[in-house]
Amino acid sequence: MSGFDDGVMVGETKMQANVLFKEAQITERVASLAQEIAADYASRGGLHTVTVLNGALHFASQLRFAISKANPELGFEMTSDTIHLASYHGTGSSGEVKKISDLTHPVTGKHVLILEDIVDTGKTLSVLVAELLAQKPASLAVVVLLRKPSKLAVPESDLGEKMYVGFDIGPEFVVGHCFDYDGRFRDVPDIYALSPAE
Ligand code: IMP
Repeated sequence: MSGFDDGVMVGETKMQANVLFKEAQITERVASLAQEIAADYASRGGLHTVTVLNGALHFASQLRFAISKANPELGFEMTSDTIHLASYHGTGSSGEVKKISDLTHPVTGKHVLILEDIVDTGKTLSVLVAELLAQKPASLAVVVLLRKPSKLAVPESDLGEKMYVGFDIGPEFVVGHCFDYDGRFRDVPDIYALSPAE
């Protein structure tokens, strides 16, 4: 039982919710991303994560634990910061990025990994990448749980040196497992795609 079996109301519209990724599948994918990241950063001697609030909060803590578990012997130093950005209203990107709260420290000289929940048009991420690059980090990469390649509206070169991607998906709007619709559904364990009910 998902609680979505009879569809879900999104504003005035009844939407059908189809499961895209089960929680166990997501956990497995996060563990393999963590292995890859731990191996890539082992020789750099440090990893500084910048989590984009609110959406990436759950994904970020899952991934950070998995990275330190993946690399217990090498034990490179991991530090973290957060930035709170808002760019989304309902199921359509506003295209405007608002900063609700800033980083605690500049990222100058650090090996930075941005932890973001999803890349849709990429506008939010490109604004953040430009802002962090201006602070001259030692390197700047991005990890996202989901990416919608067909919606990308900015050059890939504006999205950091490297992007680690959990899953590529279609243009559909998703909820669950940290993805929300106006603050709802973040606590649902699986990820669902919403489509208009027949
Ligand atoms: P972008 O600037 O268009 O890439 O939008 C990025 C932000 O929009 C993400 O950080 C999410 O908060 C939100 N977003 C984009 N697509 C979805 C979705 O399918 N479900 C929930 N939030 C989404």
